[in-house]
Amino acid sequence: MLTGKRILLIISGGIAAYKSLELIRGLKKSGASVRCIVTQGGQQFVTPLSVAALAEEQVFTDLFSLKDESEMGHIRLSREADLVVVAPASANIMAQMAHGLTEDLASTTLLATNRPVMICPAMNPMMWQHDATQDNLKTLQSRGINIIAPADGDMACGEVGTGRMREPEEILTAITAYFQDNRPLAGLSALVTSGPTYEPIDPVRFIGNRSSGKQGHAIAAALKSAGAAVTLVTGPVNLPAPQGVKTISVQTAQEMLKACENALPCDIAICAAAVSDWRVKKAADQKIKKGADKSAPTLEFIENPDILQTIATHKNRPALVVGFAAETENLIENAQAKLTKKSCDWIIANNVGDHDIFGQDQNHVSLITTEKVTDWPPANKEAIARDIVEEIIHHFVNLKMIEAAE
Ligand code: C5P
Repeated sequence: MLTGKRILLIISGGIAAYKSLELIRGLKKSGASVRCIVTQGGQQFVTPLSVAALAEEQVFTDLFSLKDESEMGHIRLSREADLVVVAPASANIMAQMAHGLTEDLASTTLLATNRPVMICPAMNPMMWQHDATQDNLKTLQSRGINIIAPADGDMACGEVGTGRMREPEEILTAITAYFQDNRPLAGLSALVTSGPTYEPIDPVRFIGNRSSGKQGHAIAAALKSAGAAVTLVTGPVNLPAPQGVKTISVQTAQEMLKACENALPCDIAICAAAVSDWRVKKAADQKIKKGADKSAPTLEFIENPDILQTIATHKNRPALVVGFAAETENLIENAQAKLTKKSCDWIIANNVGDHDIFGQDQNHVSLITTEKVTDWPPANKEAIARDIVEEIIHHFVNLKMIEAAE
């Protein structure tokens, strides 16, 4: 049910923390990956070792840990999740969230995150009913935080009232329902190109490039998880087809173009493939042999079709067309020029001059639209894919608002 979903679970101080161990098991069983932060208070009730053993991931506890920060900075930690769940959420962490306090790793992560957050409060009934907590609750609700309201019953402290954290199965159901309801791109269709193209020289040789397809495939998966119907047209890559995505494998730019045109009309097109700019004019039918005089063959090239430009100027043009630009110099200027030349709406620009991004998990990009240039922090390709999809969601929400106003 939660296959591929990444949960960042924050365990704050409260006796209910023991239930969070069961929650981790349930999440894992449902297919989610679970990364955990345990606060100082949380560590009074559960040990990082038991959390790590169940989550099968490193557990994070300290904002100022050199080790944690070098392996996974708190900003990355806050961004690389589909949902941040605070369970149990103590009165203290709710107050920190409401007031934007950054006193430890958990509260700092909660202030830095741009991901949806769900909290499962657990505390003594008097603390829950206190005006301070209720005011904080209203603030958090007004900011769109998902609240799994505590239950009534006997408390560990001996009192009876409202404040018990919901049972792990109930929280798991709420998390699953959250992902089922939150499919903001449901009803929209998307086309994604990914990977390299291979242009034949003869039956055994080709011209290709080192694109791994990781970024394009991650975008296809993220669009799918946001509810879009996705067609992925991919060149030769060493990656599995993302679940639930219609995947068409091609070799050459011409085949890629044909598959893309067949996928039109659609609402969104994202061209992440590294399409070969040229192909050999006449690929040999038989393997080219070394000549008796050892002379090297001369290859004549012709230009390949520009798939992005063709889609962006097509009679069935998608409402949103996004291209990529890998540049080694003058990143922004070159990408802006590409935006105009190829008639697309956005360009995701990455500087490939200072480091080799091919095949890497990390990427560093800027989003360029006709109105703005936004430099995003370096992140892994899945996180960048989710950020791109967030932008797409905002774009379509705005479009709907504009239509409604007209
Ligand atoms: O011109 P350049 O190759 O740098 O442009 C990169 C963008 O154009 C990428 O989005 C890429 O997928 C797309 N492209 C294409 N067809 C081509 C060449 C590039 O779709 N033949």
